[in-house]
Amino acid sequence: MAYRLKMELASEKKKSNIVLALDFPFEKPENRSGLFAKASQVLDAVHPYLCAVKFNHHLVLPLGVFDSVERLVEKAHENGLMAIMDCKANDIGSTNQVIAEYYYAAGFDALIANPFIGWEEGLKPIFDVARRQQRGVILLVYMSHKAAYEGYGQTVVNAETGRPMLQYISFAQKALKLDADGVVVGATYPEKIREVHDVLREKIPIYSPGIGVQGGAVQKALDAGSCYLIVGREIMLSQSPVDAAKKVRDLARPAARCRRGVRL
Ligand code: XMP
Repeated sequence: MAYRLKMELASEKKKSNIVLALDFPFEKPENRSGLFAKASQVLDAVHPYLCAVKFNHHLVLPLGVFDSVERLVEKAHENGLMAIMDCKANDIGSTNQVIAEYYYAAGFDALIANPFIGWEEGLKPIFDVARRQQRGVILLVYMSHKAAYEGYGQTVVNAETGRPMLQYISFAQKALKLDADGVVVGATYPEKIREVHDVLREKIPIYSPGIGVQGGAVQKALDAGSCYLIVGREIMLSQSPVDAAKKVRDLARPAARCRRGVRL
């Protein structure tokens, strides 16, 4: 089954559109083995409120992909969650192919890539590997942090039409053309979510990080057209990750259910 549908089914079954960013603050490398136990405990406790878990360098660097992270991915799957690798693949094609092969081999259902690299010898090898294995590729369209405008918000001359346009609109159009499995637009920019949503015409789901600590609000992101909300520190740094996850899930739940990229 293709990733996008699997994600929709997981979200429906778990009654959640929350993707947990399983991120921990820096630990001295000599203390890194404790991270596996902590990550395992968090997953055991909060999985009822999630549809997916997103991994980043926070765990991949100290624990390594095979063995430790792979076991956490298995745990996510055992609990009905999708596993997304936020590697923001951004290299030449031959390297991207290796990145994709390793992450998918470790069990990841989807990975995040940066469309700045373009198609030929850029994104194409990632899509080739993904399509062969029915995995997902999610493209950055507008990041959640303050300086996102310096790259994603620039006005650029479109390489095909020669006309000026906004970089993130061009990326949204590209995502549609490539039939990406999702796009990332920061919850911190609901107006951009709305614009991207208009371009995607409900065909591709929008994933929005930046809820809570970065200033994004659940309701605004959903109203603007986000489908899945990526939440890290708001849950991970809370006194009670379970309560925080439940709270954000309950806030989001009535507003959004996504099916084939369509909010019902
Ligand atoms: P917080 O703690 O801010 O964590 O909830 C968010 C998580 O998501 C990552 N992040 C992004 N990933 N595009 C991405 O692909 C983005 O625009 C973006 N903004 C944040 C961040 O690294 C952390 O893992």
